[in-house]
Amino acid sequence: MSKIHIVGICGSLRKNSQNRGLLRAFEQELPDHVKFTLADLSEIPFFNQDQENPYPDAVLKLKELVNSADALIISTPEYNLSYPGFLKNALEWLSRRTLQAKLAGKPVALIGAAAISVNVSQSHLRDVMFALNMKVLGRPIVHVGNSRTKFDEEGNLTDLVTKDLLVQLKDALIDAVKG
Ligand SMILES: Cc1cc2nc3c(=O)[nH]c(=O)nc-3n(C[C@H](O)[C@H](O)[C@H](O)COP(=O)(O)O)c2cc1C
Repeated sequence: MSKIHIVGICGSLRKNSQNRGLLRAFEQELPDHVKFTLADLSEIPFFNQDQENPYPDAVLKLKELVNSADALIISTPEYNLSYPGFLKNALEWLSRRTLQAKLAGKPVALIGAAAISVNVSQSHLRDVMFALNMKVLGRPIVHVGNSRTKFDEEGNLTDLVTKDLLVQLKDALIDAVKG
């Protein structure tokens, strides 16, 4: 049986990002038959329709990784009551028809950690996932508000309630892949 492949996308480029820590904590819960890869968005240029022929290397690399995934998990903070611009920028590249990124119907889990709340950020991101025709998981909801109390200085998750939710999310995402 070939392994299930889950690709993680982090909505923060910060070294000690709590959202990357959330993805690390998710990865730790995965069983042996699931492979996890964290995407690198740091080299993705600003979207420009004049740069679609050929597409930039970093965009092609991201596309190949996304296409190799059975499911995605996006962990993002909230920035000014939305989600960060560089993440939206990456989604705009991926949405381009001629790039042929396989997004439609792909299961995606949306999670996040932020100083106050991620409710609005997640709501905006869910709208874009709808536009991309992705299969967004409804439950469990993993919204880590008041995040300063739930991670250490290096961005490692310390909150046991959230760890338990990630275990449930792992099962839900694997089930979504199996259909
Ligand atoms: C530009 C900016 C805007 C922010 N806006 C919000 C916000 O609207 N709501 C919130 O809860 N936190 C907000 N924050 C705080 C972030 O949630 C916090 O820095 C979080 O830890 C970032 O995630 P990271 O640790 O993965 O980088 C903002 C931070 C920045 C830098």
